[in-house]
Amino acid sequence: MEALRQQLAQLRQEIDSFPVLQPADAEAFRIRFLGSKGSLKSIMGEMKNVLPEQRKEAGQLLNEIKSYAESVYQQHVDRTAAKTTETNSGIDRSRPGSPQAIGSRHPVTRMKNEIIGIFQKLGFAVAEGPEIEDDWHNFGALNLPAHHPARDMQDTFYVQQNPDWVLRTHTSSVQIREMEKGNLPIRMLMPGRVFRNETISARSHCFFHQVEGLYIDEQVSFADLKQTLYFFVQEMYGKDVKIRFRPSYFPFTEPSAEMDITCFICGGEGCPVCKKSGWVEILGCGMVHPNVLRNCQIDPEKYTGFAFGMGVERPAMLKYGVNDLRLFSENDVRFLRQFPALS
Ligand code: PHE
Repeated sequence: MEALRQQLAQLRQEIDSFPVLQPADAEAFRIRFLGSKGSLKSIMGEMKNVLPEQRKEAGQLLNEIKSYAESVYQQHVDRTAAKTTETNSGIDRSRPGSPQAIGSRHPVTRMKNEIIGIFQKLGFAVAEGPEIEDDWHNFGALNLPAHHPARDMQDTFYVQQNPDWVLRTHTSSVQIREMEKGNLPIRMLMPGRVFRNETISARSHCFFHQVEGLYIDEQVSFADLKQTLYFFVQEMYGKDVKIRFRPSYFPFTEPSAEMDITCFICGGEGCPVCKKSGWVEILGCGMVHPNVLRNCQIDPEKYTGFAFGMGVERPAMLKYGVNDLRLFSENDVRFLRQFPALS
């Protein structure tokens, strides 16, 4: 019995000192101690030499060492397996993470969202449409038939593959698409990028952004147009700002007007922004022309509506003090970083 005790103590030492660094070592451990020809098996074979009255105790000692060897083996398996995935994936989990660069909204997008936000308070929804348009949606349906002289007002880019396609010169094309759907009444905003063949300079570009609006229902009048735009201006530029309408011409509206507001830089006293006039032009507008309604299968005897359209870059330039329109599209991060994410 004493000999057995010594044997087991020796075995325990061997179990503890067996080097296991990788899965193959763990397997070697199993074969050496727990395998069918392993140390434990051979000691068990010696049970027959133990006196019958001592067999019970000897059996207990053997069981203890067996479960000890099994648990050590399991630990070796777990440890070496975890290590393999770590090495193979090439990931060093102890490395500190790299900081995430957080982007922010482009100033044009911010201004656009600000405009949309104000009209949303009045229940206007947002509609979008394609930037490559057919002649009908950009011109024809808007009361600009072929060879109409007003087409020259907007220096149009034509698409070479198809003479019927243009880069939309205004988002009025989306107004047509909305009216054609025939879901009346309509209270919609059409924000988007538009294209005109103009020489690129600090004050003009071959593309820019617009927000147009359209309201069609029974008995919509010019008074509604005025009140809606007055609400917009007060929300955007403050309660003290005054508005004025100057008669204008757009083929798709009748009557048409351009709306000015008292200069929000000098308060109407005269400065370089308003060219000393005290007023700044901010949008074009008017009552939707009956021909346009008819082109979209809307009965002009029953329905009337107003439309307006404004640029986004100019108010953004004034608001953020940007003096060159080109900066908006150059994507220079030094410029963009000046508009950090809103907290
Ligand atoms: N579509 C016009 C433009 O691009 C703006 C406008 C829209 C004018 C709606 C009147 C009514 O300049």
